[in-house]
Amino acid sequence: MKIGIIGSGNIGGNLGKHWAKAGHEVLFSSRHPDQLQDIAREAGNNAKAVSLNEAWEAKADVYLLATPFKAIDELSEVYAGEYSDRVIIDATNPYPERDGEMAQEVRDSNRNASEYTAMKFNTARTAKAFNTIYADHLKDRAFRDTDKLAIPFAAQDEKSKQVTQQLIEDIGFDSVYVGALKDSKNMDPDQSLYGKSVTRKELEAML
Ligand SMILES: NC(=O)c1ccc[n+]([C@@H]2O[C@H](COP(=O)([O-])OP(=O)(O)OC[C@H]3O[C@@H](n4cnc5c(N)ncnc54)[C@H](OP(=O)(O)O)[C@@H]3O)[C@@H](O)[C@H]2O)c1
Repeated sequence: MKIGIIGSGNIGGNLGKHWAKAGHEVLFSSRHPDQLQDIAREAGNNAKAVSLNEAWEAKADVYLLATPFKAIDELSEVYAGEYSDRVIIDATNPYPERDGEMAQEVRDSNRNASEYTAMKFNTARTAKAFNTIYADHLKDRAFRDTDKLAIPFAAQDEKSKQVTQQLIEDIGFDSVYVGALKDSKNMDPDQSLYGKSVTRKELEAML
């Protein structure tokens, strides 16, 4: 698959490197693509660093959102609609101390964070995944044959469900489907699945 990484820091950078290793074509992007050359080089021949515009214009099969939560507002304003048939995997989390008032409003609303993203990218196929795992575990505990960590995910439609499941399993994690986005509250900060590095069996017991 061709994967556009929107925000290439701890989460986007490491996931992109894993997906490139697994044979996917990866486009790392951020507001400063010149700073992503080293990551792209480390990721190897399947990867390159590009601008945000270039990443969206490349019509990737799937986009990973791995920016601070507040960036969802500006990104969706510019890019939603035109790219509504693409799958979006949202790994972001609302933190008021970093993201300001809009994050507090989302936390206080009766909408899950993933529903906020889906609403902003209104017709997009949105999934939620990789927001509950610590960046260090994402980096160091991929590609295991045994004792795999489980990654919970939620998805809006069959296509986003299937793509997200494959991308989790391609890099040596187990996938655990939590349900539709409306059922993904348990993946949000401070909720039951957040920050839990456990196996599939343990995660399923929590659900
Ligand atoms: N760190 C963790 O353990 C962890 C775990 C799970 C989920 N998360 C969530 O994942 C998201 C990313 O976290 P992170 O730790 O990877 O952050 P990070 O290391 O700070 O990386 C953020 C990336 O987003 C880019 N970015 C920032 N503002 C942007 C904008 N307006 N438009 C496009 N790109 C933008 C940054 O580059 P430029 O500033 O150069 O644009 C950078 O590449 C956050 O929402 C976080 O809550 C983090």
